[in-house]
Amino acid sequence: MKEMKSFYKQSFLLTALLFILMLALIGCAGTEAGGSESIDTGLAEDEWNNLAFKDKFPLHWESYMKNMVNEKEIIQKNDPSIEPYLPIVWNGFGFAVEYNLTRGHTYAFEDQMNVRRITSNPNAVSACMSCKTTLFPQMIEEFGPEQAYKLNYHDEALPWLEETAGADKGMMTDHEGNVAEWGHVSVGCSTCHDPVTMELRISLPQLTDALDRLGFDYENATQHDMRSLVCAQCHVEYYFDPLNNLQTTFPWGYGLTFEDMWEYSEYQASREGGFQGEYVSTISGGAILKAQHPEYELWSYGPHQTVSCADCHMPYQRTDGKKKVTSHRWGSPMLTIEESCRTCHSDKSETYLETRVEDIQSRHKEALLKAQDISASAHYYVNRMITSGVDEEKIKEAQALVREGQWFWDMPAAENSYGFHNPDGAMASFTRSIEKSQQAILLATRELMAIGEDIDELERQIEITKQNVIDEPVHHEKHQQAINEWFPNVRDN
Ligand code: HEC
Ligand code: HEC
Ligand code: HEC
Ligand code: HEC
Repeated sequence: MKEMKSFYKQSFLLTALLFILMLALIGCAGTEAGGSESIDTGLAEDEWNNLAFKDKFPLHWESYMKNMVNEKEIIQKNDPSIEPYLPIVWNGFGFAVEYNLTRGHTYAFEDQMNVRRITSNPNAVSACMSCKTTLFPQMIEEFGPEQAYKLNYHDEALPWLEETAGADKGMMTDHEGNVAEWGHVSVGCSTCHDPVTMELRISLPQLTDALDRLGFDYENATQHDMRSLVCAQCHVEYYFDPLNNLQTTFPWGYGLTFEDMWEYSEYQASREGGFQGEYVSTISGGAILKAQHPEYELWSYGPHQTVSCADCHMPYQRTDGKKKVTSHRWGSPMLTIEESCRTCHSDKSETYLETRVEDIQSRHKEALLKAQDISASAHYYVNRMITSGVDEEKIKEAQALVREGQWFWDMPAAENSYGFHNPDGAMASFTRSIEKSQQAILLATRELMAIGEDIDELERQIEITKQNVIDEPVHHEKHQQAINEWFPNVRDN
């Protein structure tokens, strides 16, 4: 409950600050932005096809199509140059097999369909689509909220989607010949806008449900709040609730900090039939919570919580020399520092801001790698406890510490800003992670020594195994190197 109050307080502060900011901006920005004028597009209330908006909003369309151009090379996150120990810490889960860096919104649906986590999982469910397509609200309409999230992805959901969205796969092509399959139903206009009035709106019930639980009155949200809430439909932590038909659910019952969400997730896990985690580790044998992109949450208690997502990620830009529109190319604000940052930080140079961001991000990456390294070791220590027959209760205790240690590095790691959205919040999380993983190792060491295990040899085997994972050149086979004779799969037997 106390967190609820701070949520209110925060949004009050936000509103007050924005008001001052708006007064300051009105003078220079003019009223070209639209938004305040009411419009009628003539489109259907439930229009889901992105292509339907193309001719009505050519400037926005042009901007939106820039999402087709990749800003960065697409490589797998488990590459040694990024996060080398992922195949260990996620062993037993699809993320250990394939997990790529993000691309633009126009590719969201195509990328999900093609990732091995989906293609090689015959039991994947339609809930996975709940933050990837403009058609999801229609899916709820069609199947009802009890069924819409738990349809089989391959046998039920996709055939329906293909039938509804058209067998031509809505190929979307830009000037440069980039093609997005299913681009017409990927994250798009109707996700964030009412198709008739173009007012910002929340189209996905997982967010309104979560806000209801927090007691946040979204019906009367300010325009400023909406400029972040539209993103909070997807850029958040979630799980599929087994106590509620696998509906996409945000663990926000106690508040939005990583600590609050941990408490709430543990409460869910303690309920009969409640959500335990996304998978059971093949190495340490316990249920693990897999974190997912909590940008909104981390931002919400960081230094820029009064600055909306759109302020930085969708700056107001001049297009063809005359008209100003809100950028619809969602990417790195570091490519638009002038419009994204210097609107407020006009006293700082671009280079200064760049350096500050780089500093924050490199400190973050350093802590992240350290926390993952120790967490990977903790998994192996518990594996050894299991194979050498240590007391069951002690194993459970160590597994709980591994679970907690993992959550607290995974949340800031899954958050895509590398700490920029909230440097201190992310760092506090890594600190707790390292502490918990170390406690697991300590507990294991004590138990293993008591039965005469050679800890130096264990350490040596852990290092060898980590190196084998790093050395395996095929990204989606790395996870196989994480298991061996010394450290067998303890889940499936
Ligand atoms: C992820 C959310 C999101 C998506 C997807 C999205 N928009 Fe927007 N759009 C915004 C935000 C935020 C604003 C700024 C609104 C404000 O503050 O008034 C905006 C503003 C606009 C405006 C008002 C004029 C302006 O430039 O501020 C138009 C028109 C518009 N969008 C059209 C579109 C079209 C067309 C699409 C699909 C091709 C689209 N939008 C997709 C979030 C989105
Ligand atoms: C309906 C869900 C959804 C909404 C709403 C949404 N996003 Fe996204 N966003 C995604 C997905 C999914 C990806 C990853 C797409 C991929 O990799 O194919 C993504 C990727 C991104 C990226 C990385 C792009 C890149 O090129 O790597 C940024 C930045 C981003 N979103 C910002 C925002 C902001 C800001 C908002 C709100 C104005 C927003 N998103 C709203 C689902 C969403
Ligand atoms: C004060 C400016 C600012 C605000 C506010 C902000 N961001 Fe960011 N965001 C950044 C910066 C800077 C980065 C790091 C970009 C980089 O590394 O190049 C980033 C990174 C991201 C990324 C990863 C982009 C990628 O290429 O993979 C996503 C996704 C994202 N932000 C979403 C959000 C969402 C959602 C919100 C609101 C809850 C938000 N951001 C609020 C500045 C901001
Ligand atoms: C709407 C105004 C606004 C925008 C836009 C904005 N900032 Fe800020 N920034 C603030 C405020 C407010 C603070 C917190 C108070 C302070 O420290 O001065 C802050 C603090 C900071 C800090 C110091 C806090 C920290 O994290 O260590 C950095 C660095 C920073 N901003 C960088 C950026 C960058 C980079 C961008 C663009 C991607 C950006 N800001 C966009 C208002 C803004």
